[in-house]
Amino acid sequence: MCGIFGYLGHQQALPILVEGLRRLEYRGYDSIGVAVDDGETIQTHKTVGKVSDLKSILPASIDGTLGIAHTRWATHGGVTQANAHPHASENGTVHLVHNGIIENFQQLRKSLSKRGVECKSETDSEVLAHMMALELEKGAEPLDAVLSTLRRLRGTWGLCIMFKELDMLVCARNGSPLIIGQGEGETFVSSDPHPLTAHTQRVVYLEDGDVAVIHRGSFNITSMKGHSVEPNITVLDEAWGEAELGDAPHYMYKEIHEQPDALRQCIAGRVDREMGTGRLGGMGLDHSTLIQAPHVRLLGCGTAAYAAQIGQMLIEKMGRIPAVTHISSEFRNNDTVINPKAIYLAVSQSGETADTISAIKEIKLKGGQVFGVVNVVGSTIARLCGKGVYIHSGPEQSVASTKAFTNMVAALTIFATQLGRTRHLSKDEGRELMQALQQTPHLMETYLEDIGPIDEAVSLLCEANSVLFLGRGLSATVAKEGALKLMELAYIPCLAYPAGEMKHGPIALLEEGSPVVVIAPNDHLKEKTMSALHEVKARGAKVILIHEQGDAIASEGDVSIAVPAVHPALTPLLTVLPLQLMAYYTAVRLGRDVDRPRNLAKSVTVE
Ligand code: BG6
Repeated sequence: MCGIFGYLGHQQALPILVEGLRRLEYRGYDSIGVAVDDGETIQTHKTVGKVSDLKSILPASIDGTLGIAHTRWATHGGVTQANAHPHASENGTVHLVHNGIIENFQQLRKSLSKRGVECKSETDSEVLAHMMALELEKGAEPLDAVLSTLRRLRGTWGLCIMFKELDMLVCARNGSPLIIGQGEGETFVSSDPHPLTAHTQRVVYLEDGDVAVIHRGSFNITSMKGHSVEPNITVLDEAWGEAELGDAPHYMYKEIHEQPDALRQCIAGRVDREMGTGRLGGMGLDHSTLIQAPHVRLLGCGTAAYAAQIGQMLIEKMGRIPAVTHISSEFRNNDTVINPKAIYLAVSQSGETADTISAIKEIKLKGGQVFGVVNVVGSTIARLCGKGVYIHSGPEQSVASTKAFTNMVAALTIFATQLGRTRHLSKDEGRELMQALQQTPHLMETYLEDIGPIDEAVSLLCEANSVLFLGRGLSATVAKEGALKLMELAYIPCLAYPAGEMKHGPIALLEEGSPVVVIAPNDHLKEKTMSALHEVKARGAKVILIHEQGDAIASEGDVSIAVPAVHPALTPLLTVLPLQLMAYYTAVRLGRDVDRPRNLAKSVTVE
């Protein structure tokens, strides 16, 4: 999805806009642009590429205190300078930036063409600028020009609009997040809270259908019907300022090594050692609801879906009720039966992923209660669910998720324990697990201080045409996450498969020297996993083995990487670490853009 930033105040707009884009760049970085009102005209500068490319085309300064900015993740139209935002009407009376998808834009484009208005770009967004300009020409006020345009749209938008010779901004939200930051005599607009905390902690999350008119130092909000809307001020936690890179080489490196502390933040105050259970106050789940729940359904995309799958297995193992994980984009189209007594968990780092949001709305429509397992405080999913668990990873800036994954798994482990303890999990079992969880951050630190022969693994991976990841049980899902990481970062085709199933097909992929990653913690499935290891080795594979420290199977790997021994239910929190590092260092060695991998975005707010 895209990043939007806007400013109206007493400071020079350009540097504020550029810094806002830098903090939003992880949302999408195909192309980028700014428009600033310099008192005579609205200057627009835009280019393919990232903030650094934009800076290379910008003038040293533009004297103006009103502007809008955009960083794009292409949905409609290629990655070209013409398709970059901001977009403007032919006569320059309207300039805007947009995040979302206008589903009926082709017919709107045709009706513009009939009126002699031709678009310069392939985008849906540009159509909106022309439509608003035509309304202004008919004598409409800016707000009315925007409202009458929006009423003709089908789709999603986060919009920030400026008008020639008018000292104002108009913003609108429908499906794509947009937040207003209220400063002293100045107002900011952003797609998410990260960039705002540098200027203010007082923000207003626009809701779907809201349209805000911003003047110097003040703003008011109306609904699409023109009714006044009372702004709901949220005070952001300062920790949500952008985590500076510091002396780390990449955000991903930094965030991998933040995992022990992030995990401590996630666990803090949520473990009841005495009763051997979890305490997730934010879910507001009483014991009778937990006891009566017929089953649990979990939702997520990408890495979040894999965290959900691990949670699913732990919920079944400890809660002894059925649990199912759904890929959000599938769930919402499959007419799933919703049982209002069931527990639904929406797992999302950003809290803005459109597919997961749509799935939540579907469940709520049918009477289900959805709990968010979310990182970004105040995000759309957090507010849509109302109840849930903040995973407290801190800002995760790298597109590939790491510390959010381990914290999602930890939060779901605590939930599974709480659920289990209302049923068949004994106090001793609960105590053992919760105590082990509290020791896990230290075990992570121990591993990260001595990561083993990662560089030897990287040498095998860099040469690979494809890589097979194998595991069983919890490790089968860890294998999926490891494969996703390597694909996302190094652009190497990967396949993750349950180790027991590999012989029914994927084994055909193996050639002499094919790298195969085998995840074999010392759990009840290890011996069977080793069978798969022997099968692939018999066919010439080079095995990268992830195993527990001191385990004799170390001799079986061509490259063996040891992680500290941990409670069997917690092995994903340790075995995922070498997989993250392998992906990271392979990407570095291949010269990839580690924090901004090609074609990806941090979270996708379009379906
Ligand atoms: C993808 C990201 O776009 O969205 C993944 O690249 C992420 O890292 C997935 O796991 C889901 O995002 P979220 O914010 O809902 O966890």
